[in-house]
Amino acid sequence: MSKSLFRRKSLSTILKDAREGLTDAHGTGSLHRVLKVKDLTAMGIAAVIGAGIFSTIGEASFHGGPGVSVLFIITAITCGFSALCYAEFASRVPVSGSAYTYSYVTFGELAAWVIGWSLILEYAIGNIAVAISWSGYFNNLLSGIGLPLPGWLISNYDNATPETLAAAPHIGSIPVIVNLPAFLVVVFITWLAYVGIQESKRSANFMVAFKILVILFVIVLGAFYVNTDNWHPFMPNGFSGVLKGVSAVFFAYIGFDAVSTTAEECTNPQRDLPRGMFYSLIICTILYILISLVLTGMVPFTELKVSDPLAFVFDRVNLKWVSYIISVSAVIATTTVLLVFQIGQPRIWMSMSRDGLLPKRFSKIHPRFKTPSFATIITGILVGVPALFLNLTIVTDLTSIGTLFAFILVCGGVLLLPREESNTQRFQLPYINGRWIVPGLIVLFIILFHTQIQEKWSFAGGWDVWKHNIPFYLFTIVAILITVFSFLRKLSLIPVLGLLSCFYLMTEMGLKNWIVFAIWLLTGLVIYFSYSYRNSKLSTAEA
Ligand code: ALA
Repeated sequence: MSKSLFRRKSLSTILKDAREGLTDAHGTGSLHRVLKVKDLTAMGIAAVIGAGIFSTIGEASFHGGPGVSVLFIITAITCGFSALCYAEFASRVPVSGSAYTYSYVTFGELAAWVIGWSLILEYAIGNIAVAISWSGYFNNLLSGIGLPLPGWLISNYDNATPETLAAAPHIGSIPVIVNLPAFLVVVFITWLAYVGIQESKRSANFMVAFKILVILFVIVLGAFYVNTDNWHPFMPNGFSGVLKGVSAVFFAYIGFDAVSTTAEECTNPQRDLPRGMFYSLIICTILYILISLVLTGMVPFTELKVSDPLAFVFDRVNLKWVSYIISVSAVIATTTVLLVFQIGQPRIWMSMSRDGLLPKRFSKIHPRFKTPSFATIITGILVGVPALFLNLTIVTDLTSIGTLFAFILVCGGVLLLPREESNTQRFQLPYINGRWIVPGLIVLFIILFHTQIQEKWSFAGGWDVWKHNIPFYLFTIVAILITVFSFLRKLSLIPVLGLLSCFYLMTEMGLKNWIVFAIWLLTGLVIYFSYSYRNSKLSTAEA
């Protein structure tokens, strides 16, 4: 049994399957190859710029002050390492499953399942957060034209005020509180994703162009209203205040990796996928750093604890019309994020279904639209129904921790890939020998942060305090192991740094999120052992 848990798909089998059109168990054909580097970059930006920069950055700036811009740089570097690893995989394994397929090749079936299961957090659960944020800005727009929706149609049980509860219709004694716009936008996006990648691509490119223009406009206009006094002190609550924003800032970056799920719809995936990911990440990083500086320069950071910070700061400087444009653009920006993730999730399920880990229907391709139709509808239901009832923060945190975990496995997976001869036809991750550099960097880390490390390891304050350090203890163990392996095996530097930096960010997510994440993983394992383990194609082949 333990051997079969680590059974691996060989690279050659995966590539052969994709080449021979075994992409669809139902014989209705493969996907349309229409995406080029421009579309992929647009798709990356479409997936990245959304609820994070328009909503969650507010609270991050409130805790971190202007120093949150440093967090944007640190997170961008972390994502950059992961993007390089994704790019290496995407160019070696140009099929739709993203991190899921990559893990199947390197770690084996169990890890692949775990990663596929975690990616549901990034794509489907992440989209619940985005739909809720969309709905908030949409209601801003409606309010702007004097047509706000009643509170009970735009809220959830956690956030509803006593007035909303009283005004809501009742079923028996239970008030009906739903987020109707969040549900309806998911229905609309699911329909777009269902009818075709070509249509989705056109809509995404247009919306991306619009949102970049608006963001540039915000940066340029906002720069005139910056009061540099607001940048002092730069980190009003110290570095620990800045780190409180990790989940929110990381959430803002999630999405560049979703590009890799469209590998089978690219004209030249081995060359274009890596480029699409890098270009989108670089563009978003520059925009984010500038926006965070403008935002914290326009008003004192203490005022930024709002859910619509960009609209709010312009309102504060009496530019109401600009705040209205921002609300329009936020609605558009979050729509594109929804679209990309709503396209990505079914494609991951499609790959899992091809491998027998999910029922066959998940890889059924629509004969006319050439999209994974059944999986697209299930994604719509999985996102749309909870969006009616849940609140934003629960889902944002869960998304960030699940995605970081996926990034860690991708970086780790690259370390296990056999080295290849240099090949100019595809992107190749540069190999830098980590033998001395990794231990050197760890020593530097210890010197710089020895006070904080000592504090965490002092076990002071009893269980109630130090239980929150458990993620950090795990990080320490992993860091020691990886340093030893780097020394002994001359591991490649970039994936090692990616793995360590993602793990470190995970430790900043709070014990509660770790526990919820662990429960999520356990649920996944129950499904794996009760269905997928026995139905896996590799298991049938072995038999
Ligand atoms: N990065 C995406 C957003 O901020 C998930 O909406």
